[in-house]
Amino acid sequence: MCGIMGYTGYEQASPIILEGLSRLEYRGYDSAGLAVQAPVKTTEPPPLQVAKACGRLQALIDKTRGGADLPGSCGIGHTRWATHGIPSKENAHPHISEDGCIAVVHNGIIENHYDLRRELIAEGVEFRSQTDTEVIVHLLSKACSNAPESEKASIIGSVLTRLKGAYALGILFADEPDIIYAVRRDSPLIIGCINNGKQQISGIMASDIPALLPLTRQVFYPEDGHIIKLTTQGISFYAYNNDTHTVTNVTKSYGDPVTLTLSENAARLGHYKHFMRKEIEEAPQAVKRTLESGLTDPDNPFFTDGALLASVQNIRMIACGSAYHACLVGKAAIESLCRVPVEVEIASEFRYREPVIPHPSHTLTVLVSQSGETADTVAALRLCKSMGIPTLGIVNVQGSTLAGEADHVFYTPAGPEIAVATTKAYCAQVAAMYLLALQLGRAKKVLSADEQEKLIRELTSVPEKMEQLISLESDLCRLSQELASARHIFFIGRGMDHALSMEGSLKLKEVSYIHAEAYAAGELKHGTISLIQDGTPVVALVTQPHLLHKTLSNVAEVKARGAYVICLTTAENILREGGLALSDVADRVIPLPATHPCFTPLIASVPLQLLAYHVSVARTLDPDKPRNLAKSVTVE
Ligand code: G6P
Repeated sequence: MCGIMGYTGYEQASPIILEGLSRLEYRGYDSAGLAVQAPVKTTEPPPLQVAKACGRLQALIDKTRGGADLPGSCGIGHTRWATHGIPSKENAHPHISEDGCIAVVHNGIIENHYDLRRELIAEGVEFRSQTDTEVIVHLLSKACSNAPESEKASIIGSVLTRLKGAYALGILFADEPDIIYAVRRDSPLIIGCINNGKQQISGIMASDIPALLPLTRQVFYPEDGHIIKLTTQGISFYAYNNDTHTVTNVTKSYGDPVTLTLSENAARLGHYKHFMRKEIEEAPQAVKRTLESGLTDPDNPFFTDGALLASVQNIRMIACGSAYHACLVGKAAIESLCRVPVEVEIASEFRYREPVIPHPSHTLTVLVSQSGETADTVAALRLCKSMGIPTLGIVNVQGSTLAGEADHVFYTPAGPEIAVATTKAYCAQVAAMYLLALQLGRAKKVLSADEQEKLIRELTSVPEKMEQLISLESDLCRLSQELASARHIFFIGRGMDHALSMEGSLKLKEVSYIHAEAYAAGELKHGTISLIQDGTPVVALVTQPHLLHKTLSNVAEVKARGAYVICLTTAENILREGGLALSDVADRVIPLPATHPCFTPLIASVPLQLLAYHVSVARTLDPDKPRNLAKSVTVE
């Protein structure tokens, strides 16, 4: 959830780290900090220079005059999303050893930190923060004084054996100039490398690719548990042996760095005010690329194991947040098009409920995640693998944990998504769901070649229809002014529309802080309708022809109780033919272009996302960094 960044090289480290952190701020933004090795080399290593500030990263940038106050070419930084301890200067990273000679930044959670803290306190250590991270710095400090001559990689390895949980760490030692140590276990970490050809190497470590993009396209994805030593002569990877307490250099096994194909602009704001708005506009292209990729790209085919697909008797989808909602759309599409049963589960529930899976080898588990790092989704994947269930990961971030561990992977090529609330990546996930439905339908011979071709043709026309809807923005902007003062907003729909209403409601509450709730339209009268009063906004999704009149009856029920109804529909024509105008039943109508009913969630998600965005802006909030939320949830 936090962002970490480190740089050692030939430039001033602080401005580079601050710029990198600004590209990681979506991971955490309640406090930030920096530690930099002082440039003056004396016989006594000077202590590390440290600066921390509470609040957004800008506070740290201002406090350090853009990093100018911490000169030096080797340092680490952090932007925090609080887990243990309130957002405060004391709890901000880096955490520093008592002698000021070791600094640690950490993303993740140390689960046994209470035990370690108790043990260290009994040995006389004084803690300065409430964080789980601080135990690491004290353990390192003790290990260094017990074995002063040992290699630092092996000291770090010995400390890691004491830690339980998930972590990516950046570590600086004052007595090892120009060197950063990095390590990861179940938390994301990418190592970047700049080689300017004159045997001058710069090493970078970061939680995510956007931080590296202005500096390099050459990266390594370190393996879990490996210790990385970044120096100005090169980058080395070590494996620690628990039994012999020694480290082995495993650099050769990494080979050459991977070259990223992303452009630097992929993570830049450009002329947009917010990433969320930019990413909504990028959604149609993200869907287009996802469809092209799955249908025609030999490097990213949707799913190659046709025999497995043909033998699949049921599907289990597991995810969190919006990815879970994308799965609900997938369930509706697959069940309707392929007649294969699909169960959808929230990853944090699945992993702890001792699931019973009747036919493991005939059950395909699909794990969906933008980041590929969501702790619960990764844990669910491991649980499925341990039960011998075949797994397919649908992931946006290349090289992420889920992508590395799933039996099959499909990358949604949505590009880097920076705004905390997902928009384009969600749309790409929904598109991937349709690809799965089409593949499955073909493999199981439920869809004829003709039917399949017709569906593909319709699906590939969807991105253009999504683009048309962006032109409705000014109407949605006006509507958002009306909704900005609402205290509660309800989203209703049936079937596929219910799945989408859940996403519409989540998006709105994430970025506007207005209480929003999604309800299956037919279920309202079993309780929730009691909350409808004069003027309560209700967003009704009416896109499924076979459910049209059923949903309209529910709309009429809320209208009769004073609701202010906003209706998103593909069905205006049908109604008109039946002699009814939608304006008879709804206060506001957002007409959607017609498509196959299974594909309307993609089209309707555009106005829902735009609405949430504009309500947030109308309430003068920051839609990119909603309070308390983080994009990549690497803790349970
Ligand atoms: C966070 C984000 C959501 C996202 C969810 C799952 O809560 O704010 O936008 O849907 O995590 O993330 P994943 O990376 O697994 O898709």
